[in-house]
Amino acid sequence: MTTTDASARALQLNEQGQLRHFLTIDGLDRELLTRILDTADSFIEVGERRIKKVPLLRGCTVVNLFFESSTRTRSTFELAAKRLSADVLNLDISTSATSKGESLSDTLLNLEAMASDMFVVRHSRSGAPHFIAQSVTPGVAIINAGDGRHAHPTQAMLDMLTIRQHKGRFEGLKVAIVGDILHSRVARSQIQALNVLGAEEVRLIAPSTLLPTDVESLGCSVAYDMRSGLKDIDVIIMLRLQRERMEGALLPSEREFYKVYGLNTEKLAYAKPDAIVMHPGPINRGVEIESAVADGPRSVILNQVTNGIAIRMAVMSMAMGGQRAQRGQDAEGQA
Ligand code: CP
Repeated sequence: MTTTDASARALQLNEQGQLRHFLTIDGLDRELLTRILDTADSFIEVGERRIKKVPLLRGCTVVNLFFESSTRTRSTFELAAKRLSADVLNLDISTSATSKGESLSDTLLNLEAMASDMFVVRHSRSGAPHFIAQSVTPGVAIINAGDGRHAHPTQAMLDMLTIRQHKGRFEGLKVAIVGDILHSRVARSQIQALNVLGAEEVRLIAPSTLLPTDVESLGCSVAYDMRSGLKDIDVIIMLRLQRERMEGALLPSEREFYKVYGLNTEKLAYAKPDAIVMHPGPINRGVEIESAVADGPRSVILNQVTNGIAIRMAVMSMAMGGQRAQRGQDAEGQA
């Protein structure tokens, strides 16, 4: 285990090894990731009930703090918290005191003074949720909803749940991640989760300008061409071009990118006949994926969105359970 693994593990887990924050997949083991998937499985049925609620977070206050735009993550975190019976506060950053220059630390101190139990944080700065978890009042859980280029662990876990539902296992699976890997926090978390869960191969398909320099250390193989890259692939994960994080000209044009790396019906035929197509969203039709594929029978993109609710219910309930267990332990220690 590396120092990074060890420090992330120590911060995320309580003394009994239970989740108390969820910041990154880095440092978590297969048993814990499988427990998250199994817990999420048990919540899928809640979403099919007439009254879609369980009382696990009754009396808890969850604050959604999104310093970056979001459709899927923010909505599914809100629905997940409400289905767990929590009180939910969505802070609108554009009309909050952040726009008057209040620092992140001061905003958090004020929200902690309102007896919040959990912060769900999306931030453009890599490491922001980690920083908050290090300084927050004991007992308050921090969930990373995407930080800079670093990590998007709940997205990776909802992707793992979707893969498990469709393929039944990770062993023996070959998974291709295609497109802008360099700027993708989703890809980093997916690679870690797939490797921990035992996928046979994670293959990155991208132009060299959109691959990280440390690609060899990520535990992946690399292909630069879709036709050879998609050979024998069971799961294709497409990524969008993240223009907001690009510095300088990394591509000749979107049209050229689509021609070489865009997933269309013709290129899909190079993967296994039962390969599924995934995308974390937002999708850009005609840039990285053809509509006929995005809306076609092999696409599980909207299943991913649905699974986001169950995964976020699992992570929030497990983190709150881990915080409560730690509080009990600390109180016993003081008695
Ligand atoms: N997949 C994802 O993070 O989407 P949003 O940016 O809409 O939350």
